Amino acid sequence: MTSLAQRAVEVLLTAPPTEKARKSAALAADWRAGLIAGIGQAAPPMQPARPDRPEILPPGKMPRRGPGGTGKATLLHALAHIEFNAIDLAWDIIARFTAHDLPRDFYDDWVKVAADETEHFLLLVGLLKDLGSDYGAFPAHAGLWEAAEKTAHDLQARLAVVPMTFEARALDTAPPLMEKLRQAKDEAGLAVLQRIFDDEITHVAIGARWFELVCARVGEDQAAAYQRLVSPHFPKGLKPPFNHEGRQQAGLPQAFYGPLAS
Ligand SMILES: [Fe+2]
Ligand SMILES: [Fe+2]
Repeated sequence: MTSLAQRAVEVLLTAPPTEKARKSAALAADWRAGLIAGIGQAAPPMQPARPDRPEILPPGKMPRRGPGGTGKATLLHALAHIEFNAIDLAWDIIARFTAHDLPRDFYDDWVKVAADETEHFLLLVGLLKDLGSDYGAFPAHAGLWEAAEKTAHDLQARLAVVPMTFEARALDTAPPLMEKLRQAKDEAGLAVLQRIFDDEITHVAIGARWFELVCARVGEDQAAAYQRLVSPHFPKGLKPPFNHEGRQQAGLPQAFYGPLAS
C-alpha cells in the first residue's frame, strides 16, 4: 500500500490545477478514513510541477490588483495562486521531514491544512468562474515557492518562515480586504474570504504548535529562534501594521515578531 509521503509526492508532481486539487482532496479523505498504511518516506521535488498557465512573472512585473471591475478578477486570481501554492506547501512539509520522528498528530495537522488549502483554492476558482474567468487567465508571481526551497533543509526554519510568517501575513492583509468587499456589498466574495481567514488562523496555530516542539527538542528559546530564522529572509524587516489580535489568537506572540518590524 502506498504511504502518506509517497501520495503527497504524487500531488506535488501533478501539474494541472483541477487534477492537483482532486488528488489532494482524495489523499486527505483517504488519510482521515484510515485507508493509508503509514507515513513512509519519499523524495519530494525541489519544485512542484506547474501548469503552463498562469504565466509566471517576477513580482515587480505583476499587474496591480484591486476590488472593482477587472481588478476584482485579478485580485481573486492572485489569492487563488497563493492557495494553489499553499496546497503544495502542506504536502511538501508532510513528505520532506519524515526523518524527524514526528508524532502522528503532526501529520493529521498538515493533512487538515492541505485539505483546507484545497478548498480555499476551489472556492476562489468558483468565484473566478462566476466572473467568466478562471485560474490561469492572468499572470502570477514567482516568489511564493522561494521560501520553501530556502527552508527545505530545516524544519524549524520552514515552520518559522512559512506558516508563522507568510501565513501570518495573510492575517494582517485579509481584514482590510474584507472591509473593501463589505463596502462593495460583495456577499459571496466576503463569505469566501471570511472562511479563508478563519482557517488561516488555525494554520498559523499549527505552525506555532510544531515550532514549539522543535524548539523544545533543541532547547532553544522560541522568540530567539524565530528571530534568528526569520530575519535572514526579511533583510528589511517584517512589514507592519500587524493584526496583533489575529496573531495572538493563533498563538503567535508579539515578542516573536515585534522586534523584527521594519
Ligand atoms: Fe489558504
Ligand atoms: Fe493556510
